[in-house]
Amino acid sequence: MSEKKKTFQEINKENRIEWDKLKFDTQLIRAGEDPYPETSHSIRTPIYASKSYTYSSLSELMRNHYHYSRTENPTVYALDNKLATLHKGESSISVASGMAAVHLACSSVLQQRVERIRPNKIKKLFLEPKSKEIPNGIIHTNQYVDIYRLLTKLYPQMGFECKIVNMCDLSEVKKIVDENTRFIFLESPTNPSIDLIDIEACANIIHEVNGKCIVDNTFASPALQCPLELGADLVVESLTKYINGHGDCLGGAIIGPKNEIQNIRLFWHEMQGPVLSPFNAWLILRGIKTLNLRMARHSSNAMKLAQFLEKHPKVVKVAYPGLKSHPGHEIAKKQMKDFSGMIGFELETVEASNKFIELLKLIKVGVSLGDLTSLIEYTSIMTGLELAPWERKAMKTSNTHFRFSVGLEDPDDLRDDLDQALEQI
Ligand SMILES: Cc1ncc(COP(=O)(O)O)c(C=O)c1O
Repeated sequence: MSEKKKTFQEINKENRIEWDKLKFDTQLIRAGEDPYPETSHSIRTPIYASKSYTYSSLSELMRNHYHYSRTENPTVYALDNKLATLHKGESSISVASGMAAVHLACSSVLQQRVERIRPNKIKKLFLEPKSKEIPNGIIHTNQYVDIYRLLTKLYPQMGFECKIVNMCDLSEVKKIVDENTRFIFLESPTNPSIDLIDIEACANIIHEVNGKCIVDNTFASPALQCPLELGADLVVESLTKYINGHGDCLGGAIIGPKNEIQNIRLFWHEMQGPVLSPFNAWLILRGIKTLNLRMARHSSNAMKLAQFLEKHPKVVKVAYPGLKSHPGHEIAKKQMKDFSGMIGFELETVEASNKFIELLKLIKVGVSLGDLTSLIEYTSIMTGLELAPWERKAMKTSNTHFRFSVGLEDPDDLRDDLDQALEQI
């Protein structure tokens, strides 16, 4: 009798063992994609523009788990495998955006995957409170604004309390954690203040109460930081930023233990549907191959510009993890391979800041980050427009703060542009 044809997933599972043995640069290019089953020998992974997958028999269909692209798609799955390999995680799911990834990761920690339960049992389990204890999660004072909004405006309507603390001070984190804390959600470096948070220490604190440590690794990418190795339980990436790196699409991913990622895939993701299109997965697969090269150049460019800004008399404050003056410099050295491309800096007055941003010529004014093209954001004017004045105050971002995503242009050109603008204010 002829041997049963292996499924796509079975082949990928075998390949994964081989990909794990490769070095990071090789993984960037090969993991998830090479060897790749059934590609007509093409060097690049094809875009599988298909909603359904058809089989010649029911038994063949039952053995395969490509059925419908809301659950899995072969192009997206190549990216899933690559990201899991790069992060040294068991598994990964790629989704439509970084925000979708944050929401799915937090939902999976706060809620339970329940199936085949009668509505009256669901009501008993979830709507009739057995105790007054409200589950809570903890975020940092200065948090990416839409994650702050998600966890402080939307989740509380579903019976969740969001606690906010300065995570740079671990004693404050210890004080605020209690037996109802389900997760610590942290970014490091943070957006927009470029604070550094000790991932390992936070993971240890939350594990004492059996909660989870969710790390948003967007500002570092797996080329510079591997939170799972530091004790994090789930990693979230906005693929929109450094991982894709070319500024031409959005995407997000969650990386973590196999069971948890499978639950996210089959429960929260399948029902809520924030699917990454195979076209965007293909762009990200193309962009990610140069991640290590790009991160090295983002980091060296940013270091040069941070040093220039630090010495400039018209700049009052610079936050770059690579500078010795950064309060989190030692933490950055401990948990990052390099310091990435994000700089925070402040000028003296609002008047000077308004003038400065108008005077830049080469450096583009725009939201988002992690692109080949340098982008600068006047933080208080360009982000958090939905926030109340008291919320902005609590976040402690000065109204002369700029968040600078240093691109891959020649650093001398970027320095000259900053210099001419600063000279004129
Ligand atoms: C740290 C961080 N996490 C998550 C996100 C959300 O990512 P996306 O824009 O892909 O939804 C962003 C976006 O700027 C971010 O900076």
